[in-house]
Amino acid sequence: MISFLLLLLLSPISTTASTAAYPTVPGTADTSASASLNDNLTPIRRELYGDGRIFDISHRYTSNLPAYRSDNGLGQFLQLAASMKNGSFANISEMKFSVHTGTHVDAPGHFFDHYFDAGFDVDTLDLEVLNGPGLLIDVPRDSNITAEVMKSLNIPKGVTRVLFRTLNTDRRLMFKSKFDTSFVGFTEDGAKWLVQNTDIKLVGIDYLSVGAWSEMVSTHLVFLESKEALIKFQAF
Ligand SMILES: *[C@@H]1O[C@H](CO)[C@@H](O)[C@H](O)[C@H]1NC(C)=O
Ligand SMILES: *[C@@H]1O[C@H](CO)[C@@H](O)[C@H](O)[C@H]1NC(C)=O
Ligand SMILES: *[C@@H]1O[C@H](CO)[C@@H](O)[C@H](O)[C@H]1NC(C)=O
Repeated sequence: MISFLLLLLLSPISTTASTAAYPTVPGTADTSASASLNDNLTPIRRELYGDGRIFDISHRYTSNLPAYRSDNGLGQFLQLAASMKNGSFANISEMKFSVHTGTHVDAPGHFFDHYFDAGFDVDTLDLEVLNGPGLLIDVPRDSNITAEVMKSLNIPKGVTRVLFRTLNTDRRLMFKSKFDTSFVGFTEDGAKWLVQNTDIKLVGIDYLSVGAWSEMVSTHLVFLESKEALIKFQAF
């Protein structure tokens, strides 16, 4: 199951989300609130709401969206199963793709088979953790997110939701179809440091994995073990 996340961003450290990261399909969206005054048949897809307090940080599904281990992106995922042009009384679309696509959360069962068997899917995640004010923080661009980096960020106690903006955003990796294994993510010791020393329950990162490629499995195990607390999703 896919979750579309709306996040309230309050960011004492970094200011607001970089406008360079919007729209989620470059050149196609008008993100300004005034664009909601729509009197013609051009769809408006807003990403900012509530005077900039609410950001829709989910990426739009397009065939070019990068997908795990794919060289060519998501590909054809949407079809019109019934169409008014062909005499149907309604348009009915069908989608088919991996649930690990675009902006998503990982269920505890993603890396723990016994959690999977026990039914710990995304529906078991706490919406109170998933929704609410969050901290957007820029991490050093010359490193993966290690224990040392985590320590240097000085994220205050009490902060439960953090989006980590990394070199991935500068490299615009979410806008490149070819899957790139050199993305920035957490190292195992970075994940452990976060779990042991902060109150963070929601970890957001700007590419398709929260764990750096070389420590993919071990990092996920650290994050997902608590099964109700640590969640990751990919965005911006
Ligand atoms: C219905 O589907 C047709 C394609 O058959 C498309 O051109 C049209 O925009 C759709 N209508 C709506 C209301 O989405
Ligand atoms: C409508 O039906 C024709 C003939 O079966 C097909 O070629 C075309 O792709 C269909 N168009 C849509 C929008 O479903
Ligand atoms: C992060 O780790 C990956 C390997 O998992 C590596 O390819 C990449 O260069 C590292 N990035 C930085 C900024 O150190």
